[in-house]
Amino acid sequence: MNYIHNIFPIPVYLNQVKDPVALDQEITNKLTNIRWIAGAGLDDPHRITTASYYDDIIMDASLSVFQAELDIHLRAYANSLLFPLTEYSRASWLAEYDLNEYSTVHDHGTADISGVYYYKTCSKGGEFFFERPGTAHTAHAYADIGDRYTIRPQPGLLIMFPGWMRHGVTRNLSGECRRILSFNLWFDRTSAIRKEIADAKSRYSTPS
Ligand SMILES: [Fe+2]
Repeated sequence: MNYIHNIFPIPVYLNQVKDPVALDQEITNKLTNIRWIAGAGLDDPHRITTASYYDDIIMDASLSVFQAELDIHLRAYANSLLFPLTEYSRASWLAEYDLNEYSTVHDHGTADISGVYYYKTCSKGGEFFFERPGTAHTAHAYADIGDRYTIRPQPGLLIMFPGWMRHGVTRNLSGECRRILSFNLWFDRTSAIRKEIADAKSRYSTPS
């Protein structure tokens, strides 16, 4: 009998897109004049395409191939979470990391689902990692659980995760430029709650 229960697992989505070449071409062709911004106030040397983190480059640049691919993966992720998809607001941006550039550990605030898509990766360094949630990692007996989960990105990899999960990027140790498309999604809770109320009312009639 298994008497160890690993409770509170966090479902993180990791999958390859169907046609990474098509996505790369779309991003490259539609974004010929990218205006890169250094750091946007974070203590990071890498560059991004948004100052506010509330722009939506997928919509602004009409990245329809990426949008279609995102729809497929988002539905698969939501199905596995038993989460009924609703309308959502989105922010999205590009980021690039040259030699020695990295990202300090951060989270994506109130975003329901955050994601990152890799369309150019580097051969050395530039790993994506999650930090183990929880503030106090002081219990010596559990040291083997580890504090980091590291992923070596390949071109075409899509990762989605809860926006509160803290993560970062290790230093790019190669001369190749690492480029990503990141996004945040916020689902419309009002419509979901209205549906919940309507469903409940149709199931249970209140005696008058
Ligand atoms: Fe991030």
